Amino acid sequence: MASYPNTICWVGDLNGHCQMIEQTLLPAEYKEIEVSTQEQMWDAIKRLAVRGAPAIGVAAGFGVVLGIRDSKASNWDEFERDLKATTEYLASSRPTAVNLFWGVDRMTAAAHSVKDKTVPEIKQHLLEESQRIWEQDRDICRRLGQHGHELLAEGETALTHCNAGGLATADYGTALAVFFAAHEAGKKIQVFADETRPLNQGSRLTSWELHNAGIDVTLICDNMAGQVMKEGRIQKIFVGSDRIAANGDAANKIGTYSVSVLAKHHGVPFYVVAPTSTFDMDTAHGKDIPIEQRDPDEIRRGYSGGLNAPADVKVYNPAFDVTPHEHIAGIVTEFGVIENPTTERVREHFRQNGLLADQ
Ligand code: MRU
Repeated sequence: MASYPNTICWVGDLNGHCQMIEQTLLPAEYKEIEVSTQEQMWDAIKRLAVRGAPAIGVAAGFGVVLGIRDSKASNWDEFERDLKATTEYLASSRPTAVNLFWGVDRMTAAAHSVKDKTVPEIKQHLLEESQRIWEQDRDICRRLGQHGHELLAEGETALTHCNAGGLATADYGTALAVFFAAHEAGKKIQVFADETRPLNQGSRLTSWELHNAGIDVTLICDNMAGQVMKEGRIQKIFVGSDRIAANGDAANKIGTYSVSVLAKHHGVPFYVVAPTSTFDMDTAHGKDIPIEQRDPDEIRRGYSGGLNAPADVKVYNPAFDVTPHEHIAGIVTEFGVIENPTTERVREHFRQNGLLADQ
């Protein structure tokens, strides 16, 4: 069986540290770094050392532990103040992936559930909760792979955009889990990976992961996706998501929307693969999802840092876009597939799986 990268984990007890792959160096260099403070975690999230929505959710959990473990609070009220300062700080690192907010909210709820205990006990409980988030993400990704690979038939070729692999989760991935699971089931499949400008998560990370797993992967520039679809090479598209609105509109790496338009034009089914923690049921439509704007130099200088535009040229650099639910054939969650997602179908999926209490 293929091995998958050890993207992020906790090492040791409450005095330990978070260990993660420094993803900005891949694939030229594989390096693991220690993250020991909340400031280091904020920075790691911001500069994409750890990235991808579910992995950011896991990082948020560990970041909360790093932020509160040295709290001098002697009672719940003081501790809650420190906890709030940490969660607000971590939540300011990146705006789009809802898993970040989901992660800090889950840690806050965990602290509240043991507020009658001593502060050292609450801290220990939070460490355990962060490890549960990590463990559950690993399990959820395997389930995504199982549900998703049913959609990919023997001999088919899929296209993906950005990186929704083991590097974007605690392990195994979301969209890439579909390919890993199909490959492990013995299906002969091929994958086209979009390069994903400007930070090249597709070429640096996705092609690296799939290649390492022995999957037949072909790298293309983003502007070639239309051509390969026109040539009839692509039967399905699988992408991840950073935040899915209640109506099924899905935010993902910039360029995903263009792929969905091409897919619609060419009649290629377009699937989003994401855990239910990526849904934001408080946001009704995709147009209300906050889109991160990043440093103009990511475009002016490209990933390698060399100048490829005038140093002061005006730049627009949204890091994400939103694919309307009308373009989505299905959303694969850890519970199954929401076909042709709408507000009603998403709610029904949540209700059936015990995630919505009403009606
Ligand atoms: O800016 P990034 O690299 O964090 O963007 C990542 C993506 O857009 C992924 O496709 C998304 O988070 C899903 S990851 C399973």
